[in-house]
Amino acid sequence: MAVLETIVLAVWAMLPAYVPNNAAVLAGGGRPIDGGRTWGGKRVLGDGKTWRGTAAGIIAGLALAGLLSAAAGDVSQLLGVDLPEFTVPAALGLAAGAMLGDILASFLKRRTGRERGAMFPGLDQLDFVAVSLPLTALLATEWFQTVFTWEVILVVVVLTPLLHVGTNAIGYALGLKNEPW
Ligand code: CTP
Ligand code: MG
Repeated sequence: MAVLETIVLAVWAMLPAYVPNNAAVLAGGGRPIDGGRTWGGKRVLGDGKTWRGTAAGIIAGLALAGLLSAAAGDVSQLLGVDLPEFTVPAALGLAAGAMLGDILASFLKRRTGRERGAMFPGLDQLDFVAVSLPLTALLATEWFQTVFTWEVILVVVVLTPLLHVGTNAIGYALGLKNEPW
C-alpha cells in the first residue's frame, strides 16, 4: 500500500481514539475519579482525571466512530482509499482504551512524583495508543487484524506524537488547556 494511503487509513482508524482526550479537556471538571484519595502521600490520579471528562471522552469517541462508519463508503470513494467502518467493540476499544491509557499515565505520573499537569515526554504522547490498540485487539480481534496491519501501526506510532503535540499546542493557544502538552 502506498505511504499516503497508509497514513489516511491510520488517521481514520485512530480518530475514535484521538478525539476522547480533546473531548475530556472540553468537558472536564467536577468530581475527580480518585475522589481525592492519596497513595503514599500523593494523589492516586489527581484532579485532572474526572468522571465527567472520562464519560464525555468515551461518548465522543463512540459518536465519532458512528459518524465515520456512516460516511465510510462516501469518503472511501472520494479519497480512493478503502476505509473501514467501526464495529461497536472496535469503537469501544479505541475510545475507552484512549481514556484508560490517559488515566494510567496520570497514575504513573503521580507515583513518580509529578504534579497534575507536569510533563512526561513520551508517556503524554503515546499513553492512549499503548492501551487503545491492545484493548481493541482484545475486544475486536478480527477487525483489529484487518485494519491495523504492521504498516498502519508503524504510522500510528510515528504520527500520533506529532498530532498530539500539535492539537495540544492549539488547545493551549485557545486557552482550553493549562499546559501546551
Ligand atoms: N480531563 C478530565 N478527565 C479525563 C482527562 C482529562 O476531566 N479523564 C480534563 C481535566 O480538566 C484536565 C484536562 O482535561 O485537567 C487536561 O487533561 P490532561 O492533560 O490529561 O490532565 P492534566 O490536568 O494535565 O493532569 P495529569 O498531570 O494527570 O495528566
Ligand atoms: Mg496534562
